[in-house]
Parts: sequence; C-alpha cells; structure tokens
Amino acid sequence: MKKIYLIGIGTGNPEHLTIQAINALKMVNVFFILEKESEKNEDLVKLRKEILQRYLPNEKYRVVVAKIPERKKGGRELEVYKERVSSWRRQKAEIISNLINNKMVDEETGAILIWGDPSLYDGHIEIMNYILKRDMAKFQYDVIPGITSMQVLTAKHKIPLNYIAESIQITTGRRLKESQPDDVKNVVVLLDNYLTYRDFSDTDLNIYWGAYLGTEKEILVSGRLNEVINEIIKTRNEAKKKYGWIMETYILRSEDNEDPRKS
Ligand SMILES: C[S@@+](CC[C@H](N)C(=O)[O-])C[C@H]1O[C@@H](n2cnc3c(N)ncnc32)[C@H](O)[C@@H]1O
Repeated sequence: MKKIYLIGIGTGNPEHLTIQAINALKMVNVFFILEKESEKNEDLVKLRKEILQRYLPNEKYRVVVAKIPERKKGGRELEVYKERVSSWRRQKAEIISNLINNKMVDEETGAILIWGDPSLYDGHIEIMNYILKRDMAKFQYDVIPGITSMQVLTAKHKIPLNYIAESIQITTGRRLKESQPDDVKNVVVLLDNYLTYRDFSDTDLNIYWGAYLGTEKEILVSGRLNEVINEIIKTRNEAKKKYGWIMETYILRSEDNEDPRKS
C-alpha cells in the first residue's frame, strides 16, 4: 500500500519542525510540491527546499513539482466563497490523485509539506478524504502536526492564548466582519486581506498583530487598537509593497487598562 504524510512544517522557521516531522521526512521517497500557477511568493517555496536540504542532506528522495490552478477571486458573499473553495479543492484532488497514481509505486511513501499545521485553515485533510472516498487513488495517510501561525504569534508577543477560564474564538477576516464589537472578547484572526480590524477601531480592544511570523521578515505590533492601528496599516502596506506578499495573523482582545500580564 502507498503511504502519504501530510507534514506540518510551521510558518517560516525551519527550527519549528517537530522531531516527529523530521523522522517522517526521512521515510519519504517522493515529495509533492504544489505551487500556485502565479506563485509570486518565493519564500514559501524556499522554506520547503531549505527544510529538505537541512534535514535530508543525503538527497535520497525525489521532488515532483506540480502546478495548481489559482483559486478564483471575488464574491464576498459566504456561499459564493465556499463554492469557489470547494471547486478549487476538487481540482486539487484531481491533481494530487494523479500524482499518487503516476509518480509513486506501491509500498512507496510520499509527502506534502503543509504550511503551519494541516488542521488549521488548510484543505489537505479534506482533499485526502475526498480522494479516498471516491477511490480516485489507493493509499493510507497520516497527519503530522505543525506549529501554527497563531502559536508563533502568541510566543512572540509573550501572551497566553487565553487568560484564566477565557474562551478563544478562531476566525477569518471575512467572518469577523459579521461580528458586533460587543461579541469580540478574545479572537484570533487569520486570512484577513481586508484589514477588518479597522471596523473595531473605536472600541477598547487591544491588538496583537504579526506578519511573516517565523521568518526573517517578521514584524510585530501590539497595543490599544485605536493607538496602533495607523502604525499597523502603514507597516503592512510598506512591507507588502517591498516583498510583494504578506501573511498576517492577529488577536483582538478585550483587556483591562491594566496589563493583565502584570497582575
Ligand atoms: C491558509 S491559512 C494557513 C494557516 C496555517 N495552516 C497555520 O497553521 O497557520 C493562511 C493564513 O495563515 C496565517 N499565516 C500563515 N503563515 C503566516 C505567517 N508566517 N505569518 C503570519 N500569518 C501567517 C495568515 O493569516 C494567512 O492568511
């Protein structure tokens, strides 16, 4: 039986791989690198190559690079967005099942290196299940957890994800837009291209913001949202212009004026 590993590789720092991930890398005969057709973000590809060179110096593996189509943009309504993501994932399932059928022989092990952790806003687990359910390829698969952008964010800001008995909400910019300010107590936001925190600038919320987390380009800003919002917008716009891409994650949190970390 063929075997596939979905390996969480963290979000930019090769030292964030777990020992389990490194041991899994050593079992792999073929790595599938899936690049978007107009991949401008060389850093994402670079990190994957750096990980392979660093942890597998003997180079006894194959690398197969496959182009994946760009997801159709537009349609801010949730239903339209969901349908576009589903149809994009179906296309990816076709591509991945062809790779498994044609680029591996029986008993071989393949892997896909997943940014951050495979369970957080990443479609590969669902794609694997989609392929297996439809018998598009035959294989077993395992998921190796990775360090998420959210965890790097809290570590770098030296904050817990939750204070005592506090709940945490994890959401996207798209969903945060639907929230009322009073509902926002402690929310981690990913996938926000819309600078949705601007909608909350007249609240008492604090923000812990990070871009390029785990990479050499990492930028951190934190403070009372209405005091640091202009700095965040200016910093992110300049960085995006300079590097051609940006990935940002932030926490919006209702906190007392007193820094709870000092209590
Ligand atoms: C498709 S999701 C993937 C999340 C990933 N699986 C994880 O565990 O963090 C992409 C989003 O993750 C966040 N992200 C990923 N890498 C990041 C990084 N290095 N710095 C800041 N945010 C990052 C951003 O919010 C980005 O829009």
